[in-house]
Amino acid sequence: MNASAVLRNGWQKVFGAGARSARPIPGDASHGTILYLEDISVSFDGFKALNALTLYIDAGELRCIIGPNGAGKTTLMDVITGKTRPDAGSAWFGQTTDLLTLTEPQIAEAGIGRKFQKPTVFEQHSVLENLALAVAGNKTIWTTLVSPLSRVQHERIEAALETIHLQDRRDMRAGMLSHGQKQWLEIGMLLAQQPQLLLVDEPVAGMTPQEVERTAELLLSLAGKHSVMVVEHDMDFVRSIARKVTVLHEGHVLAEGTIDEVQSDPRVVEVYLGE
Ligand SMILES: Nc1ncnc2c1ncn2[C@@H]1O[C@H](COP(=O)(O)OP(=O)(O)OP(=O)(O)O)[C@@H](O)[C@H]1O
Ligand SMILES: [Mg+2]
Repeated sequence: MNASAVLRNGWQKVFGAGARSARPIPGDASHGTILYLEDISVSFDGFKALNALTLYIDAGELRCIIGPNGAGKTTLMDVITGKTRPDAGSAWFGQTTDLLTLTEPQIAEAGIGRKFQKPTVFEQHSVLENLALAVAGNKTIWTTLVSPLSRVQHERIEAALETIHLQDRRDMRAGMLSHGQKQWLEIGMLLAQQPQLLLVDEPVAGMTPQEVERTAELLLSLAGKHSVMVVEHDMDFVRSIARKVTVLHEGHVLAEGTIDEVQSDPRVVEVYLGE
């Protein structure tokens, strides 16, 4: 048994195998934790948007983050992607990447993709061209569109097209897609960059019920291959995809568990009723 396994077993003896306090140990690959956020605090003019937030995400897990308006959900994503620097705490991606030392582009390069609420596809370009631009990384639009793609790049684009179910729209201008299809294309563009962790903020806002259902299927199909963190207010949608749910309130983790566990937690009921 290696040192970290001994340590982990030690935790289990003290807290029991399923104890939440059993903090994953950086360096312990067997645990499969991909994101470690510990005691993260962010202040805006003295107001604590995040307050000693601690959260761990496993490799391949699909985690839903819920919480009332202003709970700090978007700020949490801003910290993970390097847009906002915390005043305190630590943020590690995998075993060796200290996110707090990296710039936003370096974090994206390290394998963390983020989808913002508003789709940001290139409307005048086709679905295929949008995906080509995504796989090409930071080349200019012109260079990308005139350069031949490698076989590997082609394969990545085809795989992304299949995952987002837009194969029959490949030559359509992105501007002609429905709102939901644009959102899927943007997810496809992120997938083409092969992120290990995908952050998705309010993916189903403004979608039709059918689009919401397709989005649930899409996100579920990603779990296992990528870690996915989804922030969403639509509880029916959360229920349809949720495994483990984290409830944020006033910048802190209020509860964590299955959707049934958190929805029946009196503290969670109270903060939602108080909205
Ligand atoms: N750049 C900023 N400057 C000042 N205050 C900010 C800034 N960004 C966020 N805040 C504040 O921090 C708190 C947390 O905001 P955040 O956007 O993270 O909440 P949220 O959980 O994403 O809310 P929503 O569900 O409404 O999207 C809010 O009170 C917000 O007003
Ligand atoms: Mg938000």
